[in-house]
Amino acid sequence: MQEKILARLKNNQGFVSGEEISGSLKISRQALWKHIQDLKDAGYDIIAVPHLGYRLASSPDRLYPYELRYGLDTGYIGKNILYLESVASTMDAALQAGIDGASEGTAVVAEAQTKGRGRLGRQWSSPKYKGIYMSLILRPDLPPLYTPVLTLLVAVGVCRAIKEVAGLDAKIKWPNDIFLNNKKLGGILTELNAEMDITRFVVAGLGLNVNNDGKSLPPGATSLYEHSGAHVSRAELLREIFRKIEEDYGRLQRSGSADVIDQWRAYSTTLGRRVRIVSSQQHLEGEAVDVDLDGALLLRLDSGVHTKITSGDIVHCR
Ligand code: BTN
Repeated sequence: MQEKILARLKNNQGFVSGEEISGSLKISRQALWKHIQDLKDAGYDIIAVPHLGYRLASSPDRLYPYELRYGLDTGYIGKNILYLESVASTMDAALQAGIDGASEGTAVVAEAQTKGRGRLGRQWSSPKYKGIYMSLILRPDLPPLYTPVLTLLVAVGVCRAIKEVAGLDAKIKWPNDIFLNNKKLGGILTELNAEMDITRFVVAGLGLNVNNDGKSLPPGATSLYEHSGAHVSRAELLREIFRKIEEDYGRLQRSGSADVIDQWRAYSTTLGRRVRIVSSQQHLEGEAVDVDLDGALLLRLDSGVHTKITSGDIVHCR
C-alpha cells in the first residue's frame, strides 16, 4: 500500500487530496494517515495541509524496494527485492534465497554489511547508506564452466549505468574490478550453486562505493562522490544497473556471449597491458591479449605461448 501511495505522490508535483488517494486505493482516511506516518518515519518528507492534501517534498536516499521499483521497467531483474537494513553478507542471504527457490532476477539489497566479502577471501567495506551492496540471483542456461562470463556481464552493466546516471567513465580490470581514475570503485563476486555440469543458480554480488567520503574509503579506493563531488542517488543508479543487466543478460541467453565480451573489451583497462597473475597455483607474467567467450583472460607469455587464465588476481605491470 505504501508503494501505491508513494507512486501517487511522486506522479504529482503538487498536492494530492487525501480523499482522492484514499478513494482510489479504497482505504479509509485514517488508514491513509497511518501509512503517511509510516512513510515519514521511513524518511519521506511529506507535507500535509488541511483542504489541500499531501505533497512529497523529498525522498530519502534509501534502497527500499518501493523506491527501487518506482519506474523500473525491467521484466524480471530487480522486480523481486529482499531488503535488509543490515546483514552479514548479501551473498549468504541470496544463496539461501536461491536454495529456497527465489525467482530469477531476485535481488538481495542491504544498506550495510557487517561481513561483506570480496574475492579471494578479502573483506568488502560496507558502511551504512553509502554504497550499493546487492546480490542478484540468476538461473542461466549455461554450464558451470561458462558462468564466469556473468561477472563480466555485470561489470559491463555497472559501467554503462554509471555513464548514464553520473556521466563518468568507469573502467574494468579483469575480471571484476570497477575502476575510476585508477582507483577501485567497485567489485563483483560471483558464487555458484551447481552440480558437475548443471548450473542451479548463480549469485552475482556487487559492491559499489557511491557516496562515501574520502576518509571512509579503504586505501586505493574511490567513490563516485569522492571523484565528482556530487551525491548520486543510489536508487536511481541501482535501477539503471538492473536495466542494463537485463538487456545484456537477455542477449547472452538468446545469442551467446560475443556481444558482452565485445562491450567488455571497450571498458577494459587490462587488454594490451603487461600483467602478472597471482594465484595459489601460478605466477605468470605476459601481455593480456584478449578475453575468451567464457570470460577467461588470454595471456601471451614472453615465450610466445598463449595461455588461458580463469581465476586469480592480476597486477597491471605498466
Ligand atoms: C571484489 O572486488 O573482491 C568483489 C567485491 C564484492 C562485494 C559485494 S557487496 C555485495 C555482495 N555481498 C558481499 O559480501 N560481497 C558482495
